[in-house]
Amino acid sequence: MKILITGSSGFIGFHLSKLLLERGYKVHGYDSMNNYYDVTLKKARLGILKKYKNFSFSKNKLEDKKNVDKIFNKFNPSIVIHLAAQAGVRYSIENPRVYLDSNITGTYNIIEASHKIKVKHLIMASSSSVYGSNKKIPFKETDKTETQLSIYAATKKSNESMAHAYSNIWKIPITMLRFFTVYGPWGRPDMALFKFTKGIQNNKKIDVYNKGRMYRDFTYIDDIVNGIHLIIKKAPNPKQLGKFKDDSLSHVAPFRILNIGNTKKVYLLNFIKQIETELGKKAKKKFLNLQKGDVKQTLSNSNLLKSITGYNPTTNYKIGIKKFLEWYKNYYKL
Ligand SMILES: NC(=O)c1ccc[n+]([C@@H]2O[C@H](COP(=O)([O-])OP(=O)(O)OC[C@H]3O[C@@H](n4cnc5c(N)ncnc54)[C@H](O)[C@@H]3O)[C@@H](O)[C@H]2O)c1
Repeated sequence: MKILITGSSGFIGFHLSKLLLERGYKVHGYDSMNNYYDVTLKKARLGILKKYKNFSFSKNKLEDKKNVDKIFNKFNPSIVIHLAAQAGVRYSIENPRVYLDSNITGTYNIIEASHKIKVKHLIMASSSSVYGSNKKIPFKETDKTETQLSIYAATKKSNESMAHAYSNIWKIPITMLRFFTVYGPWGRPDMALFKFTKGIQNNKKIDVYNKGRMYRDFTYIDDIVNGIHLIIKKAPNPKQLGKFKDDSLSHVAPFRILNIGNTKKVYLLNFIKQIETELGKKAKKKFLNLQKGDVKQTLSNSNLLKSITGYNPTTNYKIGIKKFLEWYKNYYKL
C-alpha cells in the first residue's frame, strides 16, 4: 500500500512515517523543512527516514499547487495522511498570515489533489483547540465547536468544514483527527515539555502560564501513531450510520471526526514537578497570566476511536517524560 504523508519531517509525521515504513508500507514524505523551529532537528528526523528503501521524499510547500499535483500523480498513493501545517497557538497571534497560507490554502491543495487521484482514505490533522472555550469536559466529537480562541484553532475548524464539503460533493472518505497535546522523543522545541526541560537544564526561568493552573490531556507519541495506524483501514462509510455509539459520522458524506487523546488530564504543575524529579533539578518558574488564545484545560473522550479500532493509549505521563528525557540527553549529548 502506498501512503503519502505531508509533514513527514515534523514531530508526528516522522514517527508515523517510521512506523509505517517498518510495517512495510511504501511511504512518500512531503515537507517544506521550514524554519519555524530548529531545521537541524527536522534534517535529523529526515535522515533516519531516508535510510529506509521504501521511503521517498519531496521538499516543497503545500501552497505550490502545481508541485502537489505533480507529486500526487507520480506517486499515486491510495492513502494520504495530511499532517503538515503551521502549528502552535501562540505563534498564530504574532503571525496569523502564515496559518492562512499553510493551513487553508495548503490543505485545500491536498484535498483537491486527493480528490483528483481518487484516494481511498484521506486522514487529516485537526486539533483539540477546535473545542475552544467549551466548558463541558471531556470533549466529545459531537459537542458543538463554535468558539475557537486562536487563529490556529480557527484554521483547523475551517479545515474540518472544507473537508466535509469536499467529502459530501465528491464522496471522498475523510477522517479528521483532533490531536490532544502530543509529546515524546523528537518532540517540538516550541512545546511545553521541550521548553521546560531546556530551561531547567540551563538554570533559566521557565514561563508558566495561568500561574500553572492548567490541565492538559498529554498524549504520548507512540499512542498517537499507533492510533493513526489503526485508523488507516477504517475509512468512514455511510453504511456504518448507527453502528457506533455517539458517532460523529456525517449523515450526508463519508466523513468522520475522531478525538485521539490519552483521556487523562494532568495538572501542569505536576507535569513540571515530574520533569524536576527526573532531571534532579528545581525549576525557576516565572508565573504569568493565561496567554491570549490559550485554553485552561483539555481532556478527550476517545471512546469513539476505541469503538471503531480498539484504540487503547497506554503511556502514563511519568513514563512519557522519562522517555523524552532519555532521548533529549542522548540527542544533545548531555
Ligand atoms: N503536536 C501536537 O500536540 C498537536 C496537537 C494538535 C494538532 N496537531 C497537528 O498535527 C500536525 C502535526 O504536528 P507536529 O506537532 O508534528 O508539528 P511539526 O511542526 O513538528 O510538523 C509539521 C511539519 O509540516 C511542515 N510544514 C509546515 N508548513 C508547511 C507547508 N506550508 N508546506 C509544507 N510543509 C509544511 C513543517 O516543516 C513540519 O516539518 C499539525 O497539523 C498540527 O497542527 C499537533
